[in-house]
Amino acid sequence: MREKIPNRERGFSTFAYSRSTRIRSHPRGVISFVPGLRRWELSTAMLPSPTTRRRFLRQSFCFSAALGLSRVLPPGAWAAEAAGDHFILAIGDFGSDDEKQQAVARGMIRHGEESKRKPDALWLLGDNFYKPMPGGVKSERWQRGFEAMYPAAHFPGPCWAVLGNHDYHDEAGGEKAQLTYAKPTPGTRWTLPAKWYRLDFPSLNPLVTFLCLDSNLPSPSGRDEKLGAPRPSLTAAEVAEQQAWFQAELAKPRAAYTAVVAHHPLFTNGQHGDSKPLIAAWDGLLREHGVQFYFCGHDHDLQHLEFEGHPTSFVISGGGGARARELKKMDRGPFGKAIYGFTELQFNAERFIVRHFDANRALLHTFSKTAAGRMQVG
Ligand SMILES: [Fe+2]
Repeated sequence: MREKIPNRERGFSTFAYSRSTRIRSHPRGVISFVPGLRRWELSTAMLPSPTTRRRFLRQSFCFSAALGLSRVLPPGAWAAEAAGDHFILAIGDFGSDDEKQQAVARGMIRHGEESKRKPDALWLLGDNFYKPMPGGVKSERWQRGFEAMYPAAHFPGPCWAVLGNHDYHDEAGGEKAQLTYAKPTPGTRWTLPAKWYRLDFPSLNPLVTFLCLDSNLPSPSGRDEKLGAPRPSLTAAEVAEQQAWFQAELAKPRAAYTAVVAHHPLFTNGQHGDSKPLIAAWDGLLREHGVQFYFCGHDHDLQHLEFEGHPTSFVISGGGGARARELKKMDRGPFGKAIYGFTELQFNAERFIVRHFDANRALLHTFSKTAAGRMQVG
């Protein structure tokens, strides 16, 4: 059954409505109902413009997988392909301390239960705590917003973190509390040993080298107009030290896959736009050293961007809890959607798979990549 919905009811002009699928077409893409959040979400999945269409077709992207027609895999569907693989979940911009953060956390727990496996680790992609958290390492928010929100019973592995802008800005010295919390908290899974650090995973015969960076450079951090002063960020000396460290680590032997992890995107279709300072600092190194992945958050959406001739897949997972924001543009892809959700990384020696899920565990987007850089969507 199809019918026209008046503009005043949904805020859109006119569109077709299918009661059976709960997915609606829309001039700008597809909107679908998210039962857990009791709201309609607009998919800003890629609709290639004429100028970009040929480029994407050359790259053999499967557009249908990116059009927001989500599917929920049946229980056990993962088990057959899981033997010997490693699984990591990733969330960004999750520290909202509200029902949205809880909804995504519940989705992640249910994902583990229904797939009958627990992730090896969690990536926490920054903006780990919004709003003040008085008490620093002793704040009650550690228990409520981390330890209990992502319980060890479901997430027994380490929880690797990077720092976001709100981790610096919302509480004076907030980044220091996050850097030191693990020391007086025996048994915690929280892992943030330094503002920038390297992880080779698994520790025995590593498959992935994660290079974790602090993207809070002075320029992206900007100024606090109320205070009339620069917002807290890395110092100029720290920026230089991190840059030298990053270059040195890239020059060292690395695992088959290299993934850079930070909070801010270099490239994004989201609200914040591309970051010229980060592009200037890091994009050349990503290209030069054939880095396969750049994982980040900051924009409150889920994205996957590819660029012709670029070795790096740019993955944004910023749907962990903070208010989802519509994407600013849709001319790059293959995927982008303003929605709450999380991201799964599955990998072995042969291939590395990235999947975006919404808070109800509906699969939104998948792509895979070999260590040699062969990328396939879907
Ligand atoms: Fe952010």
